[in-house]
Amino acid sequence: MGDILNKIIVLIKECGELIVNADRNDIDIENKDGIGNYVTNYDTLIQEKIKAGLARIMPEAAFMGEEGDDNNISNKEYLFVVDPIDGTANFARDLKLSAISIGLLKNGKPFLGVCYLPYVNELYTAIKDEGAYLNGKKIHVSNKLLKDGIVYSGCAPYYEDLRSRSLSLLQSFASNAADFRRAGSAVIELCNIAAGRAEVYFELKIQPWDFCGASIIVLEAGGTLTTIDGNEIDYLHPSSVLASNGMEDYNKYIV
Ligand code: IPD
Repeated sequence: MGDILNKIIVLIKECGELIVNADRNDIDIENKDGIGNYVTNYDTLIQEKIKAGLARIMPEAAFMGEEGDDNNISNKEYLFVVDPIDGTANFARDLKLSAISIGLLKNGKPFLGVCYLPYVNELYTAIKDEGAYLNGKKIHVSNKLLKDGIVYSGCAPYYEDLRSRSLSLLQSFASNAADFRRAGSAVIELCNIAAGRAEVYFELKIQPWDFCGASIIVLEAGGTLTTIDGNEIDYLHPSSVLASNGMEDYNKYIV
């Protein structure tokens, strides 16, 4: 797998250059379904490049990506799950908080993850049972309790029916934490849990491409990842996600 990982790293870094050097006058922003749900020409371009690259690197694997209707979750042993730009709304607004995520599921479970934050040149990698790394250095979740910790709360604006419960959950977690944040990129938020910079991330509904790549990075960094109810995540379908450093039973904050 090491050779495959190295080839994916080259590919993801090339795509990161496209994000960082994007011509701001050439960004077409289209609305998908619902409030604040965007796709740009760069999302499409980068997904095509990654899809073609992965087909060369590991032709036996199937592919599922955020953009396009060619998602193919056949029952192959290996499935790539890709978000070409996580934090698309940030990219559209030039907020410089976006990431590229490539996850590889083996028989439906997280097996390999490569997430790249091009604006800060941070490359997160993990392979099952081999640890998690940031720019080649091993990382571990923090050992802070929530009272000294930071909570990330994701809530996509287009899931309007989930907003009220998301805010109640944020109120519950944040009033027991040192502080809270929202980056607008689940990949960045999950990678920050893995790197020990924040303690909890939750979101009530999120798509596989938003969490697959970073999930193995959190797990290999010693963190935990479940649904908001503490159940096992289905990595092939939209799910709630509660990721943490595993220092507490967070069930008591679930409202
Ligand atoms: C979104 C971001 C956001 C999260 C949404 C995602 P996208 O991904 O990760 O933080 O709250 O649920 O859909 O659309 O920018 O790839």
